[in-house]
Amino acid sequence: MEETKLWIDGKWQEVLESYELQSPYSGEVIAKVAKATPADVKQAIEGAHNAFQSYKKTTAYERAEILYRVVEIMRRRREELAEILTLEAGKPITASLGELDRTIATYQFAAEEAKQLHGVTVPMDAAPGVMNRIGWTKRVPLGVVSAITPFNFPFNLVAHKLGPALAVGNTVVLKPATQTPLSSIVMAEIFKEAGLPDGVLQIVTGSGSELSEELVTNSAVKKVTFTGSGAVGLKIKEQVGLRKITLELGSNAGLIIEPSAHIEKIVGRCVNGAFGFAGQVCISLQRIFVHESIYDEFTKAFVAETEKLKVGDPFDKLTDVSAMINPKEVTRITEWIEEAKAQGAIVATGGTFTERTLTPTVITNVETDMKVVCQEVFAPIVSIVPYETFDKAIELLNASDLGLNAGIFTNKLDDAMRAVDEIEAGSVIINDIPTFRTDNMPYGGVKMSGYGREGVKFAVEGMTELKFITVNNGL
Ligand code: SIN
Repeated sequence: MEETKLWIDGKWQEVLESYELQSPYSGEVIAKVAKATPADVKQAIEGAHNAFQSYKKTTAYERAEILYRVVEIMRRRREELAEILTLEAGKPITASLGELDRTIATYQFAAEEAKQLHGVTVPMDAAPGVMNRIGWTKRVPLGVVSAITPFNFPFNLVAHKLGPALAVGNTVVLKPATQTPLSSIVMAEIFKEAGLPDGVLQIVTGSGSELSEELVTNSAVKKVTFTGSGAVGLKIKEQVGLRKITLELGSNAGLIIEPSAHIEKIVGRCVNGAFGFAGQVCISLQRIFVHESIYDEFTKAFVAETEKLKVGDPFDKLTDVSAMINPKEVTRITEWIEEAKAQGAIVATGGTFTERTLTPTVITNVETDMKVVCQEVFAPIVSIVPYETFDKAIELLNASDLGLNAGIFTNKLDDAMRAVDEIEAGSVIINDIPTFRTDNMPYGGVKMSGYGREGVKFAVEGMTELKFITVNNGL
């Protein structure tokens, strides 16, 4: 069985304590994972701070080359890496391969972005009385970045933090999710092989608020980037002071389906959006608002398509939905379903569970204040709600504290453009599900869904400081 260590200053470092990592699907113990202490985190941050003094002087070309080599190595090891992901996260193997492809693209975007750190010139003589000066900006790295990542995309959401941070010359202390450290640990090897200097990437594993507190408040840390729950995100925001911060905090993504939509063309896509990785995706389709004229037809087709999904072993290529990340999550979500039923909701299909899995569940007859609607379910549950007018659909979609991605299916341009203006979300996806994401698009939320943007080029802005330079040319 694998026994992991901390990755500090380019070496594996032993610690006194470890925890047992269980497979989400079988419950088997798959690894013993090193449990860092706050003192280990402090050491990792100091090492990253020291490494920054030379890494910040590397050229864009050198940093891009390292990232291109990461891409090459990951391409070569794609299948093996996907198996690590399936083992520790319970992600169905076909989805894990898909995540690997996206991760490779993310590092490739980062390699390209390393070469695109442009500044702008400022016309200094546009200000009254100023002559003989030139002015320009440049983007400079910040220093040590603390990256705290979630379990649901353990390769790609790590890449969304490491890629841009390393591309621009920062050093990083990464704390991967307690449930999915193995994918980050293998990335240490990959970065080493790719030529990343020792100390530029430090990896600490474990759990507990003292670790996060050190990562967020240590004076050498200049930026915190976190993906995870709203409650933790808010706490980090309170602790972070004047450091830069990016928070990606999830949502209860909504989709409007107008009468012009072709049900047979979109239903399969909607089912994928709702149940991919058992709904444990920040932009999982959770609320579907369907015009009343097509509500019955859509719901029937959606339920029929949902019932075709295969629930089972994540290593089986035919599995669509596997275990939730841990049994506690199954308990939480089945309680939410029971509560919704007691409040009048109807389970149209699904709702059955084992210790580790929940069958894909479709709920109708819901109210906006039920937990399964207004909170992020992070589980294979979707609600379908009829509406009479387009105004009402937008009102229902916006009736939420969350706003990451939103979708609309319509062939009416004016409705689509109204949706763009009136929907409160970080992205509006026209004629597709809100679960759509490519790794170069800006990604982030409004309201309680987050702060700042990822998507490599956009993340770079938050990973650098804008410095202004002016020369007095008239002496
Ligand atoms: C997330 O769950 O925040 C990421 C979703 C994605 O990258 O597709």
